[in-house]
Amino acid sequence: MCGIVAYIGPKQAYPILLKGLQRLEYRGYDSAGIALLNGGLILFKTKGKVAELEDYLKDKNLKGTIGIAHTRWATHGEPNQTNAHPHFSKSKKLAIIHNGIIENYAALKKELTKRGYTFDSDTDTEVLINLIEDIQQNENVSLEEAVRISLNQVIGAYAIVVLSQDNPDMLIAARKGSPLVIGVGEDDYFIASDATPIIEYTKNVVYLEDEEVAVVKRGEDLQIRNIKNRKKTPYIQELEWNLNELEKGGYEHFMLKEIYEQPRSVKDSMRGRLNAQSGIVSLGGIVDYEDKMLKARRIIMIACGTSWHAGLVGEYLFEDIARIPVEVEYASEFRYRNPIIDENDVVIAISQSGETADTLAAIEMARSKGATILGICNVVGSSIARATDAGTYTHAGPEIGVASTKAFTAQVTVLTLMALRLAKLKGTLPKSRFMQLLNELEALPEKITKVLDDHGITERIAEEFKAASNFLYLGRGYNFPVALEGALKLKEISYIHAEGYPAAEMKHGPIALIDENMPVVFIAPNKGIYEKVVSNIQEVKARNGKIIAIVTEGDTTVKDLADYIIEIPETEEMLVPILASVPLQKLAYYIAILRGCNVDQPRNLAKSVTVE
Ligand code: G6P
Repeated sequence: MCGIVAYIGPKQAYPILLKGLQRLEYRGYDSAGIALLNGGLILFKTKGKVAELEDYLKDKNLKGTIGIAHTRWATHGEPNQTNAHPHFSKSKKLAIIHNGIIENYAALKKELTKRGYTFDSDTDTEVLINLIEDIQQNENVSLEEAVRISLNQVIGAYAIVVLSQDNPDMLIAARKGSPLVIGVGEDDYFIASDATPIIEYTKNVVYLEDEEVAVVKRGEDLQIRNIKNRKKTPYIQELEWNLNELEKGGYEHFMLKEIYEQPRSVKDSMRGRLNAQSGIVSLGGIVDYEDKMLKARRIIMIACGTSWHAGLVGEYLFEDIARIPVEVEYASEFRYRNPIIDENDVVIAISQSGETADTLAAIEMARSKGATILGICNVVGSSIARATDAGTYTHAGPEIGVASTKAFTAQVTVLTLMALRLAKLKGTLPKSRFMQLLNELEALPEKITKVLDDHGITERIAEEFKAASNFLYLGRGYNFPVALEGALKLKEISYIHAEGYPAAEMKHGPIALIDENMPVVFIAPNKGIYEKVVSNIQEVKARNGKIIAIVTEGDTTVKDLADYIIEIPETEEMLVPILASVPLQKLAYYIAILRGCNVDQPRNLAKSVTVE
């Protein structure tokens, strides 16, 4: 969603801000803008992509060593040039960029209107900058103080950066509920909504906490106070990610790169945690909470989107091998449905970005009822990672493509490690079976490499079905969530309507859709209730549906029934989701490419959904 980047230091700000906006494009947005200070405050913004802003700025004077820039994903007011950020205050002496939503903006706006303020845009952000200006002028306080007083009046979420014509050596940044990172360079500072615009300049960062206001002055130490004016000591952390992880590295799209990174990312998510030879699985981050998990009345997994699908695989894993009851909930539903939850429950929040607003809110709700909260996040230092009692990072590396791929397989890998660890502690698996599973898990990265090398079959299937209007994805058991995830990938990036279903449920509705134009993707490995899935395939075939099946290498039964098969190597039933999701990601990717879609930034979607 919205992206923030700001710079203050000795260098020219514009190239740094522009590059930063490009790095933030992956979050999803619909307009972009920039404000620079060089004597006077200048502000430019455009609807559409960062490239359009760059084009518009071609012959402008863009000098200045301090500036702010923004990509906006519309919430209040349509995506147009006026509503794009930055926004000026009435005097045009202050400019602001803002992520989040000011919930009481209408009341504040009414008050300001009475006092003679007028507004160009429909945004809550323009209200906030005028509130700051009004307080600064009427209460005769410093800008910093005015920001603090304003934020005490605001209800909602914000990450803001304020630039002031009268304070050419200072930026003010603040956050609540929406992330903000400050990069600390040799003699300069970078502020951004995530670390991606910062990495190439410095690895030293400070993550602002909720209700903190940072005063970032040229050539001076960083000062942080909370909105109650209590002084805070900045805690400088080192970023783990590297610049080359943010580049396409020769691939045409980030999504394809990330699909192909999976042998490495799955390995990284197991690194230091699994030693199959010695029979060791350990997850350092949650070691103090193992007892709590074992004794929990139940474990509740909360997540959104693809992470929710990983949670569903987790449910099968935890119940199957560790015999612990699990429920999986959409965070957005859980937070509002008054669930029965108390200190006997353990909640596991799963999130790639660690910033999803609904997941964060669901965590707070569960905490208020006394539950223990664990996290599975990819982004180190993210809001969810910090809001949980403990957790396990997935270590998949930055995921830039909006459609999640390597983060999903890493989440499922971590959930598998957790389930195995709990099974070991609980003694629910015979030793030989446990060892067998560890060995199979360790062998997965190599098997993913084999799956990726499919001799062009997914591309041929994509070519044949690129014009389809609908797709059905079917699987059973561990592969039901894989069917959901396959369908989600396709609809997200190709805009083809796709549904995932448990294969047997097909008879209760979707079978009515099947005719010779309906491609049906089956996940049909030779494990679990394979024969039942074969019967479901026959039911589709009898109605002339087109069958694409993911099967275990050497399968002949399904091969005879299906129009196309994609083979995956033999593995344990519970590990099939990791292997089987890879060809489904590739299929969605190639279909989207053939339909001319922007796979890395699909329309209307955001990578990190920071509003509910
Ligand atoms: C958005 C993204 C999805 C992601 C979901 C949950 O919809 O586009 O790829 O699965 O949010 O995000 P999270 O970061 O919490 O996993």
